This record gives sequence, structure tokens and C-alpha cells, in this order.
Amino acid sequence: MNPRRKKKKLKVKKLILFIINIIIVVIIILFLIKFLLKNDSKGNNPNNDKTVERLKESDNYNSKYKNVYKEIEYTNIDNFEEYVNSLLDKGYSTEIINKILKKYDSTKIEYIIDNEKMELENYIDLRNFELENYSRYVEYKNKNNIDYQDAVTRVNLNLDYEQYTHTKEIENPSDIDILLNKYNYLPKDYVPDNIVDIKSTTMGAKMIKVAADAFEELVAAAKSEGGFSLLATTAYRSYSFQNTLYTNYVNKDGVVNADTYSARPGFSEHQTGYAVDVRDPNVSGTRLSDSDYDWIKKNCYKFGFILRYPKGSTPITGYIEESWHLRYLGVEFATKVTESGLTYDEYYDLYIAH
Ligand code: DAL
Ligand code: ZN
Repeated sequence: MNPRRKKKKLKVKKLILFIINIIIVVIIILFLIKFLLKNDSKGNNPNNDKTVERLKESDNYNSKYKNVYKEIEYTNIDNFEEYVNSLLDKGYSTEIINKILKKYDSTKIEYIIDNEKMELENYIDLRNFELENYSRYVEYKNKNNIDYQDAVTRVNLNLDYEQYTHTKEIENPSDIDILLNKYNYLPKDYVPDNIVDIKSTTMGAKMIKVAADAFEELVAAAKSEGGFSLLATTAYRSYSFQNTLYTNYVNKDGVVNADTYSARPGFSEHQTGYAVDVRDPNVSGTRLSDSDYDWIKKNCYKFGFILRYPKGSTPITGYIEESWHLRYLGVEFATKVTESGLTYDEYYDLYIAH
């Protein structure tokens, strides 16, 4: 072989060897980093060292947990050492124990210790998870084919209970963000302040002023942008008017049917003064045309309204779809609810109640 080619071949060989060496060194470094990180999250974290220290100093040190203590982050709470041991005794993993200690106060931690072991892995990170409802979640999830988040939200809304049982009177009836549904009702004598006449109406309707003004803006935009007319049929309804309506529906259709489309007295959003039913007077046989509805659905939040009983919401609201029933929440709030893609009930439980 010619000496120049030989030299070149040698050079290539050297280069390949060099690259292989580099790769090996990089792999070793990566392994080392991974090992160090793992160790750090387990034992070498100063907080975890403190756990071991505290346990050693206390009467609660249990040598069988010698290696497990290292995986628990120290939290500055009374009875920390006892809690750690009791939770380990109950069979909770160190990962879950860390979450429990971070998330809950002593009353809740003691509740966990005093009750049967829960499979918290799928629940503890959900913002509206309530320890006290755990067995209801499990039962409801097993009965219905839904995910953990839906099970939690729906049980919190009492949907595992019969409609109109476990009902609760709303404490601050004039708050704009109250949840009116089949489990939450307004006091019989509640009448909102500042109810005014709505201008665009079929036969006279009233609403809280801010909502009535927003409704007129919506009506004007529907005309100018969509080219159609909208009018309010009813908006504010007193307890006694809702009672008359509901009783008439029951007499006509029976309780079971009436309950699918009419709220019982006290349970109607119409009593808040923030709800309005709309119709297009130029459409016959139905309240709204498809194009009316499409426009409302797309635009109502811009005026502070949400569709309270949209398509597909029956399992949550307990009512049939009502394309015409709007609830005023104010622009900012209505925008958030609309963007969430949730029913108001779900939004309420996730972001207002929790
Ligand atoms: N139609 C609605 C549900 C009401 O009666 O308030
Ligand atoms: Zn309505």
C-alpha cells in the first residue's frame, strides 16, 4: 500500500477511536448525572436528611423504615414524626406521603390516618378532590364510565344523589357567581335589587339592570351582525311565579317530565334576576332558528352571557338542552366559563367552590 494511503487510513482509524471514546465518556457522564439526581431526590436532599434526623431523635423511630424515611421531605408541622409512621404503617407510598404532608392540615392528615387506606394516586392532584367524598367517587366512577376528574366534579355536585335530595339553601343569594341547580336553592322570599324593565321583550320582562343593559347590547349586535331579531320572553321570575309555572307543567306532563324542563320553585335561575329566555319573533314553531342559535352560541359571552343548558349538558344539569336560556355573569367571567368548555356547574365546582 502506498505510504500516503496507509497514513490516511491510520488517521481515519484514530479519528474513529477518538469519536468512540468521546461517546463513551458522554454516556458515563450522563449516567453519573442521572444517578446523582436520583439520589438527590431520594436521600441527599437536606429536607429529607432532616426527616431522618427528626425521626431518630423522636420516640417514633422505626428501624424497618430506615431507608424509606430518606424519601420523605421534612415538613414543619406538629406530630410530623407520628404522621410519617402512621402513614407508612397504613401502606401509603413515600410519594403520596410527601403530597399529603404538603397539601393537608393536621385535621385532614388525621382523617387519612383514621380512615381506611385510599388509592390516592389518581385523586390527590385534582384541585377539587375532597377526602370526605372518596368512597362516593370510587362508587360513582365504577358505575359510570368516566374519568377521575369527572367523577370528582360530579360527585362534588351531588350528582350521585337523587335530584332534589341533599339540597342546600344558597347563603349569598345576590352574588353573581352563585350556582342554582337541582341541589342549591334560593330563599323563598329572595327578590333581587335593582330589577328593571327589558326594552326588547315579547310581553314584558325584567332583569337586574346591569344584565338588562347587556341584553340590549346583545340584541343590537344580533341585529347588526347577524341580521335577526331577538326578544326576551321571560327573565326575572319570582318564587311564586315559578311555583305557578312548575305546578302547571306538573299537572300537564307529570313530575318526571316537568322536572326535565322546568325548575322547581326556589331552584330556578330566573329568580336570581340574571337569567333570560330569548326568542326570535320572526321564526315560527320554535324559539330560535339554527342560525340565531349559532350566532348566540358564538357571541353571547362578549356581552357577559353564557348558555346555561347547552347541548350535551343534561347528565350534569339534569335539564334538557335549552338553546334559549342565557345567564348573565359579566364579560370577564362569562369569557372564562366559555373558554373552559365546561358547563357552569362544573366550572363552579372546579374554580369557584375550590
Ligand atoms: N327552564 C329552566 C330550567 C328554569 O325553569 O329555570
Ligand atoms: Zn330559562
